[in-house]
Parts: sequence; C-alpha cells; structure tokens
Amino acid sequence: MALTCDCPMSQPGPTLAAACGGGSFMLFMGLLEVFLRSQCDLEDPCGRTEFRRQMDSEYDFIVVGGGSAGSVVASRLSEVPEFKVLLVEAGFDEPTGAQVPSMFLNFIGSSIDWGYQTEPEPAACLGEKDRKCYWPRGKVLGGTSVMNGMMYMRGSRRDYDEWAAAGAEGWSYNDVLPFFLMSEDNQQLADMDRGYHSSGGPLTVSQFPYHPPLSYSLVKAGEELGYPSRDLNGERHTGFMIAQTTNRNGSRLSVARAYLRPARLRPNLHVLLNATAARVHIEPATRRAVAVHIRNSQGEMETVYASKEIILSAGAIGSPQLLQQSGVGAPGVLRRAGVRPVAPLPAVGRNLHNHVAYFLNFNVNDNNTAPLNWATAMEYLLFRDGLMSGTGISEVTGFINTKYADPSLDHPDIQLFFGGFLADCARTGMVGERLGEGRREIQIIPTVLRPRSRGRLEIASADPFQYPKIYANYLTHEDDVKTLVEGIKFAIKLSETKALKRYGVQLDRTPVKGCEHLQFGCDAYWECAVRTQTAPENHQAGSCRMGPRGHPDAVVDPLLQVQGVTGLRVADASVLPAAPSANTNAAAVMVGERAAHFLRQRWQRSTSATYPNNELGAQGVPSDPPAWP
Ligand SMILES: Cc1cc2nc3c(=O)[nH]c(=O)nc-3n(C[C@H](O)[C@H](O)[C@H](O)COP(=O)(O)OP(=O)(O)OC[C@H]3O[C@@H](n4cnc5c(N)ncnc54)[C@H](O)[C@@H]3O)c2cc1C
Ligand SMILES: *[C@@H]1O[C@H](CO)[C@@H](O)[C@H](O)[C@H]1NC(C)=O
Ligand SMILES: *[C@@H]1O[C@H](CO)[C@@H](O)[C@H](O)[C@H]1NC(C)=O
Ligand SMILES: *[C@@H]1O[C@H](CO)[C@@H](O)[C@H](O)[C@H]1NC(C)=O
Repeated sequence: MALTCDCPMSQPGPTLAAACGGGSFMLFMGLLEVFLRSQCDLEDPCGRTEFRRQMDSEYDFIVVGGGSAGSVVASRLSEVPEFKVLLVEAGFDEPTGAQVPSMFLNFIGSSIDWGYQTEPEPAACLGEKDRKCYWPRGKVLGGTSVMNGMMYMRGSRRDYDEWAAAGAEGWSYNDVLPFFLMSEDNQQLADMDRGYHSSGGPLTVSQFPYHPPLSYSLVKAGEELGYPSRDLNGERHTGFMIAQTTNRNGSRLSVARAYLRPARLRPNLHVLLNATAARVHIEPATRRAVAVHIRNSQGEMETVYASKEIILSAGAIGSPQLLQQSGVGAPGVLRRAGVRPVAPLPAVGRNLHNHVAYFLNFNVNDNNTAPLNWATAMEYLLFRDGLMSGTGISEVTGFINTKYADPSLDHPDIQLFFGGFLADCARTGMVGERLGEGRREIQIIPTVLRPRSRGRLEIASADPFQYPKIYANYLTHEDDVKTLVEGIKFAIKLSETKALKRYGVQLDRTPVKGCEHLQFGCDAYWECAVRTQTAPENHQAGSCRMGPRGHPDAVVDPLLQVQGVTGLRVADASVLPAAPSANTNAAAVMVGERAAHFLRQRWQRSTSATYPNNELGAQGVPSDPPAWP
C-alpha cells in the first residue's frame, strides 16, 4: 500500500471509531481510519478547500450553504473570473470515513448532522418519544450529499411537466434535462437509455463496483412481478434497477468534492467554513438584500456585503428559516417570534413536505457474505472493491404502481428501497451474531412518492441559532396511509417470489408495540404500524416553493427570485413545488445549475471569458491553478 500523501491532515470532524459508537470495533475502526487517511483520493488533503479565518467585506455574490445545490452555485459562478464569490458554510470539510459508501448510515447523529426533530406529530411517529420524528441533514461542506444513500435518481418526466403546468414556467422535463446533462459524467453511457445521459460533467455517476448477490435477485423478483429492469432515469420510470450512484471509483462523491475541490484554487472564490449565516439584511425602504450577518469561527458576528446578489442554498430547513429571520414571511409568524417584518410573504415555510416510508424487516439465510473484517477492508483499501465500496442492497430500487396509480401514466406512486448487507460497523455489520450463524436481516422499505400531507416550518424566536419548529404532519391525509399500506402488501409479495425464496426470506412477524390488539397483516394492523413506526424519508422539499410571479402560494418566481425582494434568490430543494417521484439529490444539483445559469445570464458581461468547463471534468483536480484568461 503506497502511503504517498504528504499534505497536513487536520480536518475536524467525526472519526469512524466515533461514528461507530466505540465498542469492540473501536481498534479496528481506528486502524482502518489511519489507512483510509493515507489514501490520496479519499483524503485528498491538498485538494480540500482552504479554511479561511478572514473574509473580505464585499463580494459580488454571497452563497449561503455549501450543500448539494450551494456547492454547484458557488462553483459555477466562480467560473467567471470577474465575479467575486463568497460561500458561507456552517459545517467543516467532509470527514474521511464518510467517503466510504458502506458507512453511509453511521454519520447520522454525529457532529456533521444538524439532527432536527419535528414537533410532536398528530398522526405519525406515535411510537417515538414525544411523537417526534428525526430528520438528519448534513452540516458539512457538501451538505446532505455527504451523508445520503448516493442514489442518482431524477424522478419522472411527469413530475417536472406538472410543475410547469402549475406555473413554474421553464421547468418542464425538456427544460431541465439539459441541466441534468450538464452536471453528469456517466461512466456507463452504453448501458443507459440514449439521449438521457451525458459525460464530461463534474458529477461522476455509475453503479458501485461491487453488488451483493442478493441485489441481482431483488431485481429478478421485481421482474417476476411484472416490473422490468431498466434505466429508471430514461424513457420509462416504472421498474427495478441496481441504481447508479454518485461514486467515483468506489468512494462517495459528495457534491462539494465534485464541484468545489476542483475550483479551490480560483482566487475569486472564498469558502468560509464553520460560519453560520444569522440573517440577510434587507433595506426596508428599497427591499433590497444587501448583506449577510455571519457568526464566524471565532464566534463573532460579522457583516459582509453583496454588490450583486445573495443566494440562499441552506436547504429545505435552513432557507425558509433564514428568510423568516430576515423578516420575510407571514407577518403573524414573524411577530410572534419577535422579528420585524420587512417583506410580507406568507408562503415561506408552508408546503414543507417529505416522502414517507415504512421499514419491513425480514430474516434471510446467507452463508456467503462476510460482515466487515480485515479481508473486506483490504479489498477496499487495495482495489476499491468489495462490500465496503457499496451500500449493500441499498443500491437497489424499484418503482411500482399500487391500485391507486394508473400504470399507463408511467407515474408510479411507490418507490421501494432496501436495507441490509452493509459492511459498516458493529451496529449492523455483525447482525449475523445476533441472529445466529448464517442468519441476517434485510429491510424492504415502501415509500410514498407523492404524499398529499403538507407540513410547515416556523421560527420559534428571534434567535437565529435556535432550531425552527418543524411540523411534518405526516399521514394527516388519508390517501398517504392507504398508499403506504398497499406498498407494504407489494413488499410482502416481493419477498414471496421464486427469486427470493432461495434466501429463505421470512417476514418478521413480531407485532409492532401498540398494535398487538389488531390481527397481524390486516389493513388496520398496517395502518397502526405505519402511524406508530413511521419512517420519515429524507427528501424534504417545498418550503420555499417556486410558482408564478405574484402568486400568493409562491415564495420564489421561476427565476428563483424571492418575491417582493430584490437581489435575493433561493436555490436548493426548498424551491421544488413538489418533491420529484424519487430521491432528491440530483434535482438539488440541477436547481443549482439552473440558478447559476440565471445569475450568469443576468450579470455576466457577454465578452468576459470563463474558466474552461473541463476544468471540472471527472479526471481529478488540476495540479496547477488554471491559467487566468
Ligand atoms: C440519510 C439520507 C439519505 C439520502 N439518500 C439519498 C439518495 O440516496 N439519493 C438522493 O438523491 N438523495 C438522498 N437524500 C436526499 C438528498 O441528499 C438531499 O435532498 C439533498 O442533499 C438536499 O440538497 P440541498 O442543497 O437542498 O440541501 P443540503 O445539501 O442539506 O445543503 C444545505 C447546506 O446549507 C448549510 N446551512 C444551513 N443553514 C446554514 C446557515 N444558516 N449558514 C450557513 N450554512 C448553512 C448546511 O450545513 C448544508 O451544508 C438523502 C438524505 C438523507 C438525510
Ligand atoms: C467553530 O466556531 C465556533 C464559534 O461559532 C467556535 O466556538 C469553534 O471553536 C469553531 N471550531 C473550530 C474547530 O475552529
Ligand atoms: C447455510 O448453512 C447451513 C448449515 O451449514 C445449511 O443448513 C443451509 O442450507 C445453508 N443455507 C444456504 C442458503 O446456503
Ligand atoms: C481505483 O482505486 C484503486 C485503489 O486505490 C486504484 O488502484 C485504481 O487505479 C483506481 N481506478 C481508477 C479508475 O481511478
């Protein structure tokens, strides 16, 4: 093993041992971390963004939040040398261990997770303490793309066409497809539907190098039930697939790693880490956004001015929170919190929603797949292959129609996720120990793709660092419950297919606590189960909804400009009028690409040169600063 990294490695952030909760795996994880950190592609210490202690007092653009969308906005804006750009991120650079795909669940609850909780839910999470659901969100450069499941999914053509029909002019599928293609560097073009994919963009997309045998069987099981295996980001959206993921040679490619590290040497891009935006200063007379108040890494408040525009990319929680703290929101909500209203915009924080799911546990026989041990670790360290180079069977997904969806529309209402066969740490890697030799547990996770329940978000006080009140309101619309119950029945049917029989897949029939009085498996039982053990998905969207200019339900117009305020845009998952019928990371990246495009159209002098696009290509970071044109 070559130990060739000679840059200092001093990133703050959780270690693998800490993320695994210590225990008997502590020593193993400690050693593994040492080896991982010695590998240049993962640690890439020379390629990490500078941790700046100072900033200038004025920039052309200030981007708040370096997550999936914000990383793209800052990177694309700073391609224009005449633009001076500041990116403000509350977290630090990503920890090394988070770049190992199989560790993807272990950073939930660590210091890179904001760790939000909803207010007590009226109709869901009833089995949780105080009826609160847990919402992980990345607090780290790269945002939630540092702790997500890495699946590359766009949703269906119909999702985008429906937004456009509802007034998001210019956001139909045909309008957004070029922006998906602009970001994409697909490594398996030949296997994908023609016309829907491209190569050469910053975001490397491919299947993981290694697939547990069960992954193939799950796809076969889908076929048995009439759902073909196909490219689900192409012609058709219904079917099963071993998904493509945002990985580069078996390691996680966060959006920051894809877009920001290659741009790190640009003198016109400043990245401020461990710096939290408190509010945007909007001149009351002109309603123009002129500055951002920031708590810097010394704990002091600073004001930095934007001569052109401010872009909020703080995510579906952070962006509406910042708007309300800045006096943009429903006047009643603001006054209750003690914030002086500057621009009344009641839609801010409303329409917050999220996919909702249920985890069904199954026992399986498996004598072949080893949990995490030195052999698996060496395979990863030497060849970037094996169990650690993927997310177990979480790489598989399926889109199916319940009896409530019309199959001819190719707009499935349930997405199936899977869990198990993860080489992570003591928490799940050693599940065999608990269940006896050769026994493992897997999960099938039906997820409602177009929930009708809507929640909201409100700041609780004028303290910008206090978490906002989140009302998810899961399952308050009866249709969501009915659809989820049908999804559960499909998942059980799937487990009974020939393809899965040979693994001895067996539904865990332990009744959910609180639902024992109902007959296991009947509709009323499952209704009780989903309300008690609700699995909140992680696809929060809609809280700064985009819509027609002047519409009272819209926070931003189709150019992502905040209504009633100048010089302020929002670009992240919060602007999506409805979460697409799939995971949301690719859509957030696309929104970032579009925002940068709108801003460059508005502000770039037509004659000015840009950094070449291929500087952000998939072949790694340039060793020298790009030539100043
Ligand atoms: C466990 C999990 C698994 C997931 N799996 C998948 C998957 O497999 N595929 C997929 O497509 N999607 C997945 N997602 C969802 C997807 O990752 C998110 O939808 C997407 O990353 C959201 O992007 P964003 O830009 O809107 O927000 P984020 O990426 O969350 O970025 C917001 C950024 O703003 C920063 N910020 C917030 N407030 C402030 C402030 N006041 N000042 C400074 N900075 C601030 C945050 O620290 C963060 O970096 C998953 C999510 C989770 C939690
Ligand atoms: C991060 O910022 C906070 C103040 O907001 C400060 O207390 C802390 O020491 C900083 N962390 C590091 C590692 O600099
Ligand atoms: C696993 O091993 C046990 C005992 O060695 C054997 O009885 C069983 O059939 C095996 N199961 C599979 C799926 O190979
Ligand atoms: C992937 O990583 C392995 C191990 O570090 C390395 O040997 C191999 O060259 C890499 N492949 C690519 C395509 O970068």
